[in-house]
Amino acid sequence: MGERIRLDYSKMLQAVPSVEEEINKVRPELMDAVEAVQAKRDKGLLGFFDLPYNDKEATVIKETAELIKSTFENLVVIGIGGSALGNRLLHTALNHRYYNNLTAAQRSGCPRVFILDSIDSDHLKGLLDILDLNKTAFNVITKSGSTVETMANFLILKGLLEREVGPKRAAESIIATTDAAHGSLLQMARRSGYRLFHIPGNVGGRYSVLSAVGLLSAAVSGIDIEELLVGAALTVADCTSTDPYQNPALMGAALQHIAYRRGKNISVIMPYSDGLDYFGDWYCQLWAESLGKTKESGGSKAKMGQTPLKAIGARDQHSLLQLFLDGPDDKVFTLIEVERRKNSFIIPEPSEGGKDLRYLSGNTLEKLLQSEFKATESVLTNRGRMNYKVSLPHICAHTIGQLIFLYMLMTAYMGELFGVNAFDQPAVEEGKIITYRLMGRPGY
Ligand code: PA5
Repeated sequence: MGERIRLDYSKMLQAVPSVEEEINKVRPELMDAVEAVQAKRDKGLLGFFDLPYNDKEATVIKETAELIKSTFENLVVIGIGGSALGNRLLHTALNHRYYNNLTAAQRSGCPRVFILDSIDSDHLKGLLDILDLNKTAFNVITKSGSTVETMANFLILKGLLEREVGPKRAAESIIATTDAAHGSLLQMARRSGYRLFHIPGNVGGRYSVLSAVGLLSAAVSGIDIEELLVGAALTVADCTSTDPYQNPALMGAALQHIAYRRGKNISVIMPYSDGLDYFGDWYCQLWAESLGKTKESGGSKAKMGQTPLKAIGARDQHSLLQLFLDGPDDKVFTLIEVERRKNSFIIPEPSEGGKDLRYLSGNTLEKLLQSEFKATESVLTNRGRMNYKVSLPHICAHTIGQLIFLYMLMTAYMGELFGVNAFDQPAVEEGKIITYRLMGRPGY
């Protein structure tokens, strides 16, 4: 069955004992939230629930990944927002820290993977300087098929590729991931004969990491995508109850919502793991874009949302922790713990002159990181700062699949508790329209 991740809110109850009473008080709202999410799922509006069970798609993705592996040395993912951050999450969590710097043999023959979600020309030039276009495949990902940043990068790269290898081979090097019915990318892909993957219409960008959006580049680098999906399905099964004590995603949403009502407008996510760095960024997008909304009811408008903030342990203990402890009490903290790591280092005896460091020798680096995790948890709790933790027994595709789904579901519940639509992003459209106008798009 594999190991389970766990949500542990005992420190929250130590820091603020009245939270338990509040959880019980809001039970009817929590029950409504679960039922509302279930009703949307039943209506087919929440396609992300189906992704863990799409074995057929996973098989095609794996076949395509094998083909890419046997033909190319590099894969460049072109996308932005929900069409790129999930890819970064998976690669950072599950691949070697310096994956692209390893030799091909060390990567078991898997291609290097680059994710282009920037339209800074200097970034693009830097990438082109290290790529041999003859040996590079491109996975262009955009659900709408028209996102300006993605399509601008794609058009530039496609032009360069066609010049280098000719239009026929260029078309064979491009995989398009987009909506099944609409968009410029779909039309281009059909006309040019690109390999195509579809993003289901009922799966929003930031909820799409477990579709071909995230899975293709993951499979190309050798990540076990089936285990990711099995892990995600485990969270679905664990999170059906309307009782927060039996549903960790609901408990997470309950704690966040209680914290919000107590004025904690900032939601800090603090993994004690470098591999979860981009999980933090992915979470920030999910939480911000899903919940930062204007709620209209009875003629009045309320500005809803909780600002997500990523911090990494132990690094940010030397940057943000002072603020977390002594600054305004406007934050709720999720600490993410990884109990076992793949590697271990023993700290040796210091040389002469280092007698004050002797206490370290014989200890491991993991014990040091774990001690710092415990120290942060204790000081936050001692100061009454609202905090809880999510523990991963270790990092693998199975636990990351669980973690991803836990947070997507928590966000969906939180949308219901806030009374906002967690699946649209209307305000972002305004800026896009101005950009189109500035770029001379007809009709804008
Ligand atoms: O979550 C979302 O819907 C957005 O962040 C989108 O993923 C992002 O705007 C990119 O959109 P698209 O996939 O259409 O290019």
